[in-house]
Amino acid sequence: METTTPPSDTLDLVIFGGAGDLSVRKLLPALYMAHLHKTLPEGTRIVALGRHAWDRAAFTAFVDDKVRGFIHTPEFDATAWARFIERLVYVSLDATDAKGYAALGAALQTGADRVYYLATAPTLFTTICAHLHGAGLVNARSRVVLEKPLGHDLASARAINDEVAKYFSESQTFRIDHYLGKETVQNLMVLRFGNAIFEPLWRNQSIKSVQITVAESVGVGSRAGFYDGTGALRDMVQNHLLQLLCIVAMEPPVSLDPDAVRDEKLKVLRSLRPMTVADVARDTVRGQYTAGNVGGERAVGYLQEDNVPATSETETFVALRAHINNWRWANVPFFLRTGKRMAERLSEIVIEFAPLPYSLFPDTPRQPVNRLLIRLQPEEHVQLQMMAKQPGSGMKLRPVSLDLDLQSAMTGRRAEAYERLLIDVIKGRLTHFMRRDELEAAWSWAEPVLDGWKSLGEKPRPYAAGSWGPAASSALMAREDSTWSEET
Ligand code: BG6
Repeated sequence: METTTPPSDTLDLVIFGGAGDLSVRKLLPALYMAHLHKTLPEGTRIVALGRHAWDRAAFTAFVDDKVRGFIHTPEFDATAWARFIERLVYVSLDATDAKGYAALGAALQTGADRVYYLATAPTLFTTICAHLHGAGLVNARSRVVLEKPLGHDLASARAINDEVAKYFSESQTFRIDHYLGKETVQNLMVLRFGNAIFEPLWRNQSIKSVQITVAESVGVGSRAGFYDGTGALRDMVQNHLLQLLCIVAMEPPVSLDPDAVRDEKLKVLRSLRPMTVADVARDTVRGQYTAGNVGGERAVGYLQEDNVPATSETETFVALRAHINNWRWANVPFFLRTGKRMAERLSEIVIEFAPLPYSLFPDTPRQPVNRLLIRLQPEEHVQLQMMAKQPGSGMKLRPVSLDLDLQSAMTGRRAEAYERLLIDVIKGRLTHFMRRDELEAAWSWAEPVLDGWKSLGEKPRPYAAGSWGPAASSALMAREDSTWSEET
């Protein structure tokens, strides 16, 4: 089993892309929140790197101006903010130029642990690691954090992993999938393995299908430069949705140790039935949004978004049917669906239980259905849909639900995913990060889908912004006598 060296008291968290979009929107606000709530260790400094020829004052003025807007007002505390700003250091660096790394070395504290967070394009990952090593800035206590997307396909992911592995061991490498840092996603493990009642039913004898939806109401926004060359399968399915699928489908791990959990997720990924071109044609739906209305507001189509080429065939929506070839899940379809500019922001997992072997209630025309609905976003909610007797004469059935609103059942602060994951990196905890073999197994399954689309040469199907995606997505479910949860 991989173990990590216990962290020292002082730590430099070095962010490549320190003034970039991710840093401004997610990383620095998350670090501030950890500072405010005293989970960011006292000895931690944040060393932001960027190309601007700024001094520290110019950088802190930039942070004060840009980052504050991403902190929820009730959490803004002027004194804590001022103390947080004191932890910031800025080093101007062209990450591709080996010569600049000496200045970085000079800015780091002697004897401190070092975490290098690569919030840059993945094409820079290997150069940065090689230059860090060349400048003598990597030792056995250093850690590296790799943002997604890690590569564009299996070969590029492998090439990055090979190169990074020359300088950082697997136990020093933290591959981020921020869905694994979400409170609600971590709670899925507790729901499954902290309750005895679900486990006996959690298998193909009792489950008819599983659906996993991650719907976004936002469009591509200002990220077309990245997104148009990526698409929904690489951006969401290969990582976030497959990770959710793993947590739903994995066997109970022997412990919560990083490798025990990751071994079980890997087994799921390796059991996914590979898709042939015929499977891709039958079992996947690609879509692209056109103009429409989202939440009462007019939204332009994908092709009209800034920096999107007018002929783009990039998918902004994917629905597909996957199968897991193992004893527990044989013959249970897993429907995965994600898209931008959908009717609402909604992430949920729906477990549809098998129909009754025989219905005693002729007054109820439709087969009674039991579903377990696990809502991850925007609110955390677990609902068990059951059948009950409609009051009155006769034996009419009516669906009712057992509702658990976790937001009101549990008080206490829910840290954002990045905050939780950054603290995990600082403490050297690997459980909620992807191991190399997991990531590569996910690519091995996703790549044939991309290849299949290429060889089929079909354009993505249009869907109006504000809808639930192309009609073909409902047809995919209907073939298995299922429906997406909003259609029931
Ligand atoms: C990111 C994707 O990984 O996840 C984005 O690159 C997407 O395209 C985002 O919008 C969704 O994350 P969340 O936490 O808002 O569900």
